[in-house]
Amino acid sequence: VISVPVELGPRRYEVLVGPGVRHELGRVLAERLAGRAERAAVVTQAAVEAAGWLADLDVGTPYDVTVVPDGEQAKSMAVVEQLCRTFARNGLGRRDAVVAVGGGVVTDTAGFAAASYHRGVAYLNVATTLLAQVDAAIGGKTGVDLPEGKNLVGAFWQPAAVLCDTEVLATLPAREWTCGRGEMAKYAFLGQGPPDASLLALPLDEQVARCVALKAQVVAGDEREGGGREVLNYGHTLAHALEAAAFDGRGDLPHGQAVAIGLVFAALLARRLGRIDDERVALHRRVIGGFDLMAALPAGADPEALVELMARDKKARHDLTFVLDGPAGVELVHGVGRADVLATLTEMGAWR
Ligand code: GLY
Repeated sequence: VISVPVELGPRRYEVLVGPGVRHELGRVLAERLAGRAERAAVVTQAAVEAAGWLADLDVGTPYDVTVVPDGEQAKSMAVVEQLCRTFARNGLGRRDAVVAVGGGVVTDTAGFAAASYHRGVAYLNVATTLLAQVDAAIGGKTGVDLPEGKNLVGAFWQPAAVLCDTEVLATLPAREWTCGRGEMAKYAFLGQGPPDASLLALPLDEQVARCVALKAQVVAGDEREGGGREVLNYGHTLAHALEAAAFDGRGDLPHGQAVAIGLVFAALLARRLGRIDDERVALHRRVIGGFDLMAALPAGADPEALVELMARDKKARHDLTFVLDGPAGVELVHGVGRADVLATLTEMGAWR
């Protein structure tokens, strides 16, 4: 078992990574809550239950299981209300704990319910997808979507612990692997010192642990998105635009694949701006290929429409803003020229 601390002073916690770490739940919960929890509320999704990952869960206290709806639809105020009402009916007290067992949808929604119920109860994440293990379950941003936009309502509420059981990944569908691998590829470029492809050669639990350590470092430096966390958005500006653009029914691009395209785009843009050289662009392609991801834009990608969408990115200040590689590593770059962005998209094969 690899233990990675998230150094947040009084809110410090550990992320445990390894095969079978879900079995540590009872011990960790008792330790972190100093034995005061008398019951727990487990929140999960049907696929996790169907895969059997709840059957041998040892919470260490009596608990109830609540299954939230499948997919992103579960990230709603209605589900948070249902969760909190269920907690109340089951007698969950302010000294008790919520345990989220699932991917990012579950940890975001259950985390926000935990942040709100009794004005905040402890919660632990048992991350069951690769994406949640390397990203969503760590960092304390919790929240749900509104019809008006994603993640519009939420709270910073750090978990008491995160368990990343790599054994659980055995039942992960191919699409979920793609999603997680796109995020993993991003981390190859976020460390201190020059990036390399060494992440690719590690065994899975060490890969996850290295990504967790990189995320932990970024979160410890910027818990509440005051400045610094945006590097975690590396590759995401184009990714979000691709996800938002409809490609005549071909809009079903897995998030990780979109991030992979976004990473190569960011590298080509950085080279065009004179920030990195050909070798560094090649490293981006090598890492993405090593994670079985492709760098090709979807057919029919309209460069003008993508630029419009990227100008609406939340990082942008009435301009085009990207997270770009450079001599000082990956950083936020404001005021990128529209012509350079269009030329880079064209270089990647976009046309109208
Ligand atoms: N929960 C994800 C984050 O805080 O980044």
